[in-house]
This record gives sequence, C-alpha cells and structure tokens, in this order.
Amino acid sequence: MAAYFVTSTGTDIGKTFVTAALIRYMRESNQPIAALKPIVSGYDSSVAETSDPAVLLAALGRRMSADEIERIAPWRFRAPLAPDLAAAREGRRVDFVELVEFSRAAINGAKGPLFIEGVGGIMVPLDGRRTVLDWMTALDIPLLLIVGGYLGTISHTLTALDVLAQRKLTIAAIVVSESDRDAVALDDTVASIERFSNGVEVVGLPRLPAGITHHPAIARIANLL
Ligand SMILES: Nc1ncnc2c1ncn2[C@@H]1O[C@H](COP(=O)(O)OP(=O)(O)OP(=O)(O)O)[C@@H](O)[C@H]1O
Ligand SMILES: [Mg+2]
Repeated sequence: MAAYFVTSTGTDIGKTFVTAALIRYMRESNQPIAALKPIVSGYDSSVAETSDPAVLLAALGRRMSADEIERIAPWRFRAPLAPDLAAAREGRRVDFVELVEFSRAAINGAKGPLFIEGVGGIMVPLDGRRTVLDWMTALDIPLLLIVGGYLGTISHTLTALDVLAQRKLTIAAIVVSESDRDAVALDDTVASIERFSNGVEVVGLPRLPAGITHHPAIARIANLL
C-alpha cells in the first residue's frame, strides 16, 4: 500500500495542515487511512489537543487520548527545538534505528494510504549524525514536499530538490501552501518552481479555513498520490 513521507523546507510551513486536509478528503471514499508523526518537539501535554498528532488523530476520526498520541507520536519532547537538542534537554535521544523500525513496521502493516509527517525541514538533525534526510533515505518511500509561498521560497525549494535528487528520492508532488501575508502571487511561485521541478507536479494551495475538505487543490494533490 502507498506510504508517503510528508516533508518540507522548514518548520511551520504546512505539513500537518496539508496532511490533515488530505486525510479528511480521502476518508470520504472510505479508505483505511493511517498517519504518524513520530517525532514532535514543543509538545506540551497540557494543550495536547493543539499538537500535530492530535490534529492528525482528529482528521483520522480517532479519539484523542494519551494512548493514541503515544501510538502515532512516540518521540515527544517539551522544548520547541530541533529534535537532537530538544531530546538532550531531557537527557534523552532519538534512536535512529528504532525510528526507522517504527516507521517501517507502519509501512508494512498499512492497509491503505499512510502519511508519515517528518519534523521541521528536510535536514533537521535527529541525533549527532543523522538528519530527516537520512530517515527519508532509509525508508525510501515517495515524498510529499510542502513548501511555503513567501518571498524566498523558490530558492529554498530548489535547494531542497537538489538535495533530494542527490539521494535519488522520489517526489510524488510539491505543494506550495500559501503563507500568511504572502507578497508574491501563488500562481507565479507555482509556475517558477514548475520550471525547475523535472516534471514533478506542483500544486498551489491557497490560504484555506481550518478543517476544510473540499477544495480543488486538495483533490488535485490526492489524485497525484
Ligand atoms: N494553506 C493553508 N491555509 C491556511 N492555513 C495554513 C495553510 N498552510 C499552513 N497553514 C497554517 O500554518 C500553520 C503552520 O502549518 P503546519 O502546522 O501545518 O506546519 P508544519 O509544517 O506541520 O510545522 P511543524 O514543522 O511544526 O510540524 C498552522 O497554523 C496551519 O494551520
Ligand atoms: Mg506539523
């Protein structure tokens, strides 16, 4: 079954937003969908309902409980820092081998589409040696690359594409998720990235209300998966 790794050019770009929207849209066709957010930093259990795993559980139509969060997001850290630093603050570390095994087990057990949301951007350190890029390379599943619509995103995106190509990773689609107060027209950004994307489809996703399921851009992304 198809599994996708959702990654982006940085933090706060729209990985969770796009994944949740896709899950809601795809659930309408009664597919058994799964999602993981294995590593979360900045996790505050007193407002767990606002966390990425809680947003994904809500989209999946699953109950939000400590057990459910533990199931899809076992590496949770309090500090809003890169995972290596956030873990070190608690005297912990992300065990890369365990992380890959955890992800692989979900991929092998998936009965329908599975989305694995990364953490931060594509080269955020996970431990002293490895970054998200090494995690994606170990899994070798197609990527959903989420980028922003802000001024400067084209360079960030093309840098990411070059690094991903070096690892021979497959990109299922690139989504330009419009950032707050973008000074650049979304269509212009999409057209520019398309010229350099080597045939990978680029979908512009405008700023949408939270919880929306019906938008042509979401349907288009789902059709590319
Ligand atoms: N197209 C969009 N329309 C409306 N809001 C959006 C859109 N894209 C992102 N957002 C909002 O921007 C914020 C950051 O998005 P999101 O949480 O999905 O980022 P992320 O890449 O998952 O970040 P992190 O690295 O923390 O996991 C959220 O409040 C989200 O709802
Ligand atoms: Mg997120």
